[in-house]
Amino acid sequence: MTTGAPSKDAAAIPLWNAAYDTSQVRGSGNLWGDPPVPHAERAASLFAASSARVVLDLPCGDGRNLPPLAAGAPILLAGDTSLNAMGIAEQVVERAGVREKVVFVKVDAFDTGLLDNSVDGIFCWDLLGHLTNPEEALRELHRILRPGGHLVANQWTMNDCQVSDPNIREIAPKEYIDHFDFYCRFYDRSDLDSLLESVGMTAESVEVQRWWEPPHAGYRDYEHEHESLVFTIKKAG
Ligand SMILES: C[S@@+](CC[C@H](N)C(=O)[O-])C[C@H]1O[C@@H](n2cnc3c(N)ncnc32)[C@H](O)[C@@H]1O
Repeated sequence: MTTGAPSKDAAAIPLWNAAYDTSQVRGSGNLWGDPPVPHAERAASLFAASSARVVLDLPCGDGRNLPPLAAGAPILLAGDTSLNAMGIAEQVVERAGVREKVVFVKVDAFDTGLLDNSVDGIFCWDLLGHLTNPEEALRELHRILRPGGHLVANQWTMNDCQVSDPNIREIAPKEYIDHFDFYCRFYDRSDLDSLLESVGMTAESVEVQRWWEPPHAGYRDYEHEHESLVFTIKKAG
């Protein structure tokens, strides 16, 4: 596909698609499974409180966060660069009884193809830490967000379980390559502030959140605890 992603981030796109493909050697199908991350429900409440009509989950991955996010608006756009992921996500929303609210779109976070100011809320979970150039993705997400709308996103901290995974390797301070060859960058509060400042954004809220996840078959085969800085940006206007 054509992508506005910088080369290293563009190179990861087919790797991600293969990771969701059960017919490939490394593919494990439903990578993340259930349950949703705890913050998805809170984001949906935030979107609903501002009368959001269209919310975008980008990337939706294989869909774990779509059922709670469906409560956030009448229309939920589910976007990802991986068609394999969205095929699994479609079954997740069918099972959850929210299929009629969800529109699946192949969307690159660097070049969404969506109009300026066209979505009322964006949930961007577990993507920015995988990008070597999160600045460009943040600019694009901000462009498509309507004034007054919210972007809810996360960045993993150095206390996240991934840092102590035996199969991850450090390539620079706070930068790693995981066992699926995915780039992972970890942030402390000042790193996050610098990132947002570099793109002219200020967080409306930032909080540290910790939560447990069950094993992800074939990807992280043990129960593990994540820690992220969860931040919210409200577009001015
Ligand atoms: C760690 S998964 C997170 C998925 C989902 N947010 C979740 O919490 O389950 C990262 C996802 O980002 C997608 N992705 C990678 N690069 C992307 C890009 N440039 N634009 C949109 N999605 C991308 C991958 O296909 C993958 O589904």
